[in-house]
Amino acid sequence: MDLWVDLSARGNRTAAIYRALVQAIGDGRLRAGDRLPPMRALAADLGVSRTTVATAYERLTAEGYLAGRVGAGSFVTAAAATVPAPAGPAATDTAPGGDVAPAATAPIALRPKTSWDFLPDATSSRDGPLWADFRVGLPDPTLFPFDAWRRLISNELRLRSRSPGTYDEPAGDPALREAVAGHLGRSRSMRAMPDDILITNGTQQGLDLLARVLLEPGDVVALEDPGYDRARELFRSHGATVTAVPVDAEGIVVQRIPPQARLVFSTPSHQFPLGIPMSLQRRRELLQWAAERDAVIVEDDYDSEFRFAARPLEPLHALDRSGRVIYAGTFSKSLLPTLRMGYLVAPPSLVPALRAARQLADWHGVTALQSALAAFITEGLLAGHLRRASAVYRRRREAMLSGIDEHLGEWLEAVPSAAGLHLTARLRPGVSLRSADIVGPARAAGIGFEGLAAHFAGPATVDGLVLGYGTAQLDSIDGGLAGIARLVRRFASSP
Ligand SMILES: Cc1ncc(COP(=O)(O)O)c(C=O)c1O
Repeated sequence: MDLWVDLSARGNRTAAIYRALVQAIGDGRLRAGDRLPPMRALAADLGVSRTTVATAYERLTAEGYLAGRVGAGSFVTAAAATVPAPAGPAATDTAPGGDVAPAATAPIALRPKTSWDFLPDATSSRDGPLWADFRVGLPDPTLFPFDAWRRLISNELRLRSRSPGTYDEPAGDPALREAVAGHLGRSRSMRAMPDDILITNGTQQGLDLLARVLLEPGDVVALEDPGYDRARELFRSHGATVTAVPVDAEGIVVQRIPPQARLVFSTPSHQFPLGIPMSLQRRRELLQWAAERDAVIVEDDYDSEFRFAARPLEPLHALDRSGRVIYAGTFSKSLLPTLRMGYLVAPPSLVPALRAARQLADWHGVTALQSALAAFITEGLLAGHLRRASAVYRRRREAMLSGIDEHLGEWLEAVPSAAGLHLTARLRPGVSLRSADIVGPARAAGIGFEGLAAHFAGPATVDGLVLGYGTAQLDSIDGGLAGIARLVRRFASSP
């Protein structure tokens, strides 16, 4: 056991050891039954005589903090563990040798610079089981090829056991950057060079790095409304002024972007959370707007690898001729969110700053995972997984669309979309319902989904339901939507 005893102050060393142990027992660092270091070892560690330690142990034993067992050493007693740590002058002790233990001070409240209690908890382990799981943005973990992944990880660990351990490249494993560039070229018709790619711990870290290198406190960031809450809060946490820009049937309403916006965050392939793709006309308008204002566009392309339309629209990045679109990609939907693997495709002018910011933040990610992912892509396993998973999600999505129509069609209509892992159903004109009224009761009944209103920065201009199908098992979809319909019937009013 490592026992920290501060012997830097002049004074009685036995008293210092005694106090350190009483404190450790009182605040729970030493618990009932814990064995103390042997006297000889502690004396050697602290550079004091064995007698000094023995005297402290004897006093602790006499006072009931410790009990000794012959040949086994000294242990913290159960009674001692219930005594709170000395809390103030009344508890100070005139220790053997006559010096007085310093009074413990009450802990002060450290204040974060802004409020950090704005985000809903991302983990749902506290919630009961869901028999109809329409949670948003989660892929089905049972589709993930764990056997292949295990093989690739073992391989990487074996290779690393033979190589000298050093820090790795902050921009990410070169093999993965090359594999991602190839993948983007094949699947998203993007011309990205490996040097333009920076591997991140998911999109969230990519956004954090971008905010570090691009934004000054007070800079204006324009974000779709409804929009991606975690991006909104991230930019706010960097001191940006985040402006909510409405979304219509074609995507973000470009004329409503404040002229002074430095950065526009957008989800053109599958607007989050509505699901609509941005029209080609709107994409051109947005690019032109950014070029005229010298602004940056962050394109969050989070789940469009699952596509259900004949001809997908190209990413904004592929239309950008002036190099002001930064593309954020993630493996959180295409593989698993717990891998924490994503990337930025950035113009060469920004890569060195992003690389330096990454190095400052955490140096680099887990490179064995990055190399395994590189092999996963180059061996064709990602493409195969996407093909198989898309077929499963397509069936779930079709069941969702017909279930929404059948059970909820009286009040809600599905917003047209062609990609991703969720659908949004919007209230029909004239129907009034607060999604917040039904999310909780549904969850208590084992049906999980989100309300649309919760994704607005301020008051919602439209409400509805956001329904994921990544984790929704096919045989639960119809019953789950029927269950939601019973709640909607109870809470909705029509003209
Ligand atoms: C709109 C949007 N963008 C990006 C992400 C992915 O974030 P990350 O890569 O940090 O897991 C999500 C995940 O929920 C999302 O909903």
